[in-house]
Amino acid sequence: MSTGSCPVDHSAMTATGGCPVSPRAAAFDPFGDAYQADPPASVRWARDEEPVFYSPEIGYWVVTRYADVKAVFRDNILFSPSIALEKITPVSDEATATLAKYDYAMNRTLVNEDEPAHMPRRRALMDPFTPERLAAHEPMVRGLAREYVDRFVDAGRVDLVDDMLWEVPLTVALHFLGVPEEDMATLREYSIAHTVNTWGRPSPEEQVAVAEAVGKFWRFAGTVVDKLRKDPSGPGWMPFSIRAQREMPDVITDSYLHSIMMAGIVAAHETTANAAANAIKLLLENRSVWEEICANPSLIPNAVEECLRHSGSVAAWRRLVTADTTIGGVPIPRGAKLLIVNSSANHDERHFDNPDEFDIRRENAAEHLTFGYGSHQCMGKNLARMELQVFLEELTSRLPHLELVPDQEFTYLPNTSFRGPDHLWVQWDPGANPERTDPGVLAKAQPMRIGEPSTRAISRTVRVESIRAAASGVLTLTLTDAQGRPLPSWSPGSHIDIEVGGLSRQYSLCGDPAETGRYRIAVLDEPDGRGGSRYIHERLREGDTLTMRGPRNHFRLALTAARYVLVAGGIGITPIIAMADALKAEGADYELHYCGRNAAATAFLGRLRDDHGEHLRVYLGSDGDRLDVAALLAEPAAGTQVYGCGPDRLLSALAEATRHWPEDALRVEHFSGTRAELDPAVEHGFSVELADSDLTVEVAPDQTVLSALRAAGIDIQSDCEEGLCGSCEATVISGDVDHRDLVLTKAERSANTLMMTCCSRATGGTLTLGL
Ligand code: HEM
Ligand code: FES
Repeated sequence: MSTGSCPVDHSAMTATGGCPVSPRAAAFDPFGDAYQADPPASVRWARDEEPVFYSPEIGYWVVTRYADVKAVFRDNILFSPSIALEKITPVSDEATATLAKYDYAMNRTLVNEDEPAHMPRRRALMDPFTPERLAAHEPMVRGLAREYVDRFVDAGRVDLVDDMLWEVPLTVALHFLGVPEEDMATLREYSIAHTVNTWGRPSPEEQVAVAEAVGKFWRFAGTVVDKLRKDPSGPGWMPFSIRAQREMPDVITDSYLHSIMMAGIVAAHETTANAAANAIKLLLENRSVWEEICANPSLIPNAVEECLRHSGSVAAWRRLVTADTTIGGVPIPRGAKLLIVNSSANHDERHFDNPDEFDIRRENAAEHLTFGYGSHQCMGKNLARMELQVFLEELTSRLPHLELVPDQEFTYLPNTSFRGPDHLWVQWDPGANPERTDPGVLAKAQPMRIGEPSTRAISRTVRVESIRAAASGVLTLTLTDAQGRPLPSWSPGSHIDIEVGGLSRQYSLCGDPAETGRYRIAVLDEPDGRGGSRYIHERLREGDTLTMRGPRNHFRLALTAARYVLVAGGIGITPIIAMADALKAEGADYELHYCGRNAAATAFLGRLRDDHGEHLRVYLGSDGDRLDVAALLAEPAAGTQVYGCGPDRLLSALAEATRHWPEDALRVEHFSGTRAELDPAVEHGFSVELADSDLTVEVAPDQTVLSALRAAGIDIQSDCEEGLCGSCEATVISGDVDHRDLVLTKAERSANTLMMTCCSRATGGTLTLGL
């Protein structure tokens, strides 16, 4: 290692400390085989042992953990994006001369522009990326994907990169930009040259050839801008930008227009082409997952997110440190350059459970950092998502029997950032193409939701293993995965959503969480209900399959109390039984109060008496025995936690009885939320300032914060959308919240640091959120 490149002042070192660049940090080389083969795996050691390290090889500090990478993306003042497109390999004199020949003057676009210039420009140019505008491109994307698959559907063997995935995103990019379709092959050569020029390590001879292509690309971009300027009335982002320039010449400069014309093609094209190739490769390597999405295309949107997380097409990004600071506790000097390895962040077990596993049902898959984060986050992310979804729909419906050509070697263009296989050979038996026997295949299309997918859409098929009577009018079902795989782990209080007879109903899990292959639920026959339970009682048979979502837990048992009072009414015993079992296993101090109509209709009585005998108190109406909630909870007891589930009457009595208890002493399970039409005559509109994204979003009186955020392109998860589940949570930085959810406790509400964006609103005129 050359100490000359070490940024640490060695004169201040103690003899024992020595230079802090560890041997592994010294050996790190992003152009070496290990990083090129698998970027996140190649820095696993760093995530574990040295999450922020200095690489003398490239002269960059390398940031590898999720929290640190996100923190760097979040602060675009302290961590300037100005070096995002800087050539990572110094340019030779000869290459510089070649570029000069073409008057090459690639300047600031958006991605590498500092404030205060960047945000006004981003805001001025955002409109073509809003969900409504993007929706208009869907037929074009579908049409192109269809046309390319038509060309090879009967061939039986194809290189998907050469024959579809390179050209379709390029054509989409040109349409989106409003640029006439030019010679694809030439543009492909230009784009590759741009990638090598920016993030690659070309040899001195290659540098000249690359500079030649980049110069031509630059000249081409200039010609297109000139052509569009003559008549900027057409559709597309570039004519839109030219029109915007007339209004705001200081914000949308000439230099910007020329630079973005070139950088925009690359930003929209290569990133998406690579992401698509990575996704299809990953899915075909995991055959059972491919088969699942063929059978259930509603899983595609989340599968896309998981592919972007697991094998994204942007492996690392760059920032410049503008003041002395620390990252993850490591002091970093002003002027330091950062390689922020977002692909490593996406495999950080501190944020993603079992991060190396490819799990298309992962609930937080969309929290990947492949699109960056904060005020520079990818503007085109929702166009890319749409393209990836359409490609997967088209291929899974028309070529479900597609497989990778065995034993092919995948090669990657050596560079730090843009990542996707150069070729992807696939094969299939055209005789088995479904459309030969069922032309209806071609008519299928999933409804497109522009934006990040809803976790509500993530389903799995379960088989009814057994149906047993648990009491009169109560059936216990055991469910197993239809493909025999383990079901997700769960904790006491969790529920699953089941689709029955066209309805989605929630049922608490009441089995043993340690039993991973099987779920148990109990279903009360409710003749006056919405019909879900009737269907189960009357029509469901052992061996039938059901669509299930979850599990989710809105009713968590916190194992931190000194004593627990569990109160269940009727079928409300289902979450409580799992809690009682867990408390018994912990050796906790607990009592269980269980109210029912009569012994025959009260489920699990025998089992509860056996397992919880001395902790259990049963109240049967038929015996004239009623639980006096007010008396039971008359004396507030410090350290006692009360958990209740049952009819509304019981829950209201519990709320009333614990009114004088410490805040948060009572936790109850709600199965119906707070969703109500927003009445514009009653509600008021307000502004939401987004600190990380540097945006202000207006929320209309009849609009939720969640929908206003989505319309502005902000990714935010949601599940129930009625204040029950907590998935739409956002951090509140300032402003008072009118909390309308059922998730936050009283103490959490008064702390005013969190809000549920699907239902809660501002008390006053403005809220500032950490988004
Ligand atoms: C910025 C990734 C597709 C347009 C970015 C950034 C990343 C990225 C990492 C920098 C984010 C940051 O600094 O925080 C990707 C990936 C894509 C993709 C992985 C495909 C899977 C697209 C498409 C378009 C696009 C299709 C255009 C239609 C942009 C623009 C920016 C950007 C304009 C600059 C935003 C700013 O700095 O304000 N993208 N991108 N991208 N991307 Fe994408
Ligand atoms: Fe469930 Fe908001 S989406 S609480």
